[in-house]
Amino acid sequence: MALIAFTSASGSPGVSTTVMALAYNWGAPALVVEADPTGGSGMLVGPLRAQRPGAGCIVDLLAAQESGQIGSKLDSVLMPLSEQLSLLPGPRSHEQASGLARLWPSLAGVLRERSEDVLVDCGRLGMGSWPRAIVESADLVVLALRSSLRQAAAASSWARELAAGEVPQEHECGLLLIGKPRPYPLAELAKHLGIKALAEIAWDSSSAHVYSDGGAAPRSFAVSAYLRSITALAAKLRSPHDSQ
Ligand SMILES: Nc1ncnc2c1ncn2[C@@H]1O[C@H](COP(=O)(O)OP(=O)(O)OP(=O)(O)O)[C@@H](O)[C@H]1O
Ligand SMILES: [Mg+2]
Repeated sequence: MALIAFTSASGSPGVSTTVMALAYNWGAPALVVEADPTGGSGMLVGPLRAQRPGAGCIVDLLAAQESGQIGSKLDSVLMPLSEQLSLLPGPRSHEQASGLARLWPSLAGVLRERSEDVLVDCGRLGMGSWPRAIVESADLVVLALRSSLRQAAAASSWARELAAGEVPQEHECGLLLIGKPRPYPLAELAKHLGIKALAEIAWDSSSAHVYSDGGAAPRSFAVSAYLRSITALAAKLRSPHDSQ
């Protein structure tokens, strides 16, 4: 199924939050991989509020990688979040992350073979130990940003590289605008950056807090513009596979 890499160029636009929100509203089996090398496993302490202390994480795959066994080890490290959703948590510390550089190419190959859709939080492009091989092997690379001059400026050199096919080889890239489309609407950002406009995620701090920090769902969450934008994007990303 699809391997989708979510990234940003700067400024914490909301990549991890959006990946979690999409995953919980995917409507089909999905696997979330936290491949952000920052450390601290934001997904374990954020949306899951550190309620799974003994959980395995991506670093547990390193030993298996040396013996070419990542595929068989992966299932034992995955954390089920619901019947249709599981999570591969990221590294717990930045020291752990440095070893991951050698894991990414083989992990990318294993993720491409999964039977469910795989949503990968790749964190910021270009960080030390960043999962370049996963970005290169993804079917779709989503570059997320907010509508600000600073984030657009940081995204422009990466957008050129993505559009030129230097980082990804044979795959699509899409621009995801998180938050208000002001001062720059999505179409203008996409034109300026030379990347196809993918979607907008509505600005809503309380709803986003549910997926970034395990906050309580606000009243009218179920009918919020935020959730509508998330489910619409999930349907858009999933749909090519539904029609197969
Ligand atoms: N659509 C949204 N509306 C309002 N706030 C949002 C939205 N999406 C995310 N946020 C908030 O933005 C903050 C940063 O989100 P998040 O940690 O997902 O960013 P990130 O891009 O993953 O950052 P980093 O690059 O540091 O990993 C969080 O407080 C989150 O609740
Ligand atoms: Mg993040």
